[in-house]
Amino acid sequence: MKAVIFDLDGVITDTAEYHFQAWGSLAAALDIPFDREFNEQLKGISRTESLDKILARGNLSDAYSDEGRRELATQKNTEYQRLISALTPADVLPGIKALLAELQDARIGIALASASKNAAFILERLELTRYFDSVVDVTAIRHGKPDPEIFLTGAANLGVQPADCIGIEDAQAGIQAIKGAGMFAVGVGTPSQMQGADIVVATTAELSLRMLEDYFFRD
Ligand code: G6P
Ligand code: MG
Repeated sequence: MKAVIFDLDGVITDTAEYHFQAWGSLAAALDIPFDREFNEQLKGISRTESLDKILARGNLSDAYSDEGRRELATQKNTEYQRLISALTPADVLPGIKALLAELQDARIGIALASASKNAAFILERLELTRYFDSVVDVTAIRHGKPDPEIFLTGAANLGVQPADCIGIEDAQAGIQAIKGAGMFAVGVGTPSQMQGADIVVATTAELSLRMLEDYFFRD
């Protein structure tokens, strides 16, 4: 086990909830039904792909030009950025800061593999930037999750083999990406949401270097 590659939203901090709220506001304004079950499909995928799925759900796929879609995506992001502007280090999910410190002390590589263009800002707000050896530049990624590219890029940036990496995710698309990359997948959530994960924890409070090593070497 040479590196741990983290998803951000829903793993390091509860911004998955803010994405849900911001998309929910947009969907309500467009009169499109929106709920938590549908929202599961949006986790881990890009802003534009999320918008496409929401519009399709409202049978509005043909109703907006590219320019119209850009405006809707900007509207969602403006609301999302309003929500995340108040983040503080107290918003780091339980167990995460201790895990990052343990990994750093053990000289295990740490990378971020988030599809979010707001990721660097969020790490700054949480005062976690210094723990990350690599933050994958999502603008340089051609294929989003569930494609493994973002996790493979994280491993390459750290100079480690995928088989020596653990990926941690809260999204079904993310678990698929980790497994597609040939890594050990840790899911945060319920087993039904985390199909294909090697282990599933209900909350991040269960994560520690010791437990990750136990499961990784048992596999
Ligand atoms: C993550 C989240 C998604 C979000 C995507 C893009 O993958 O799980 O819900 O849509 O990032 O985020 P952004 O901040 O660029 O809109
Ligand atoms: Mg996530």
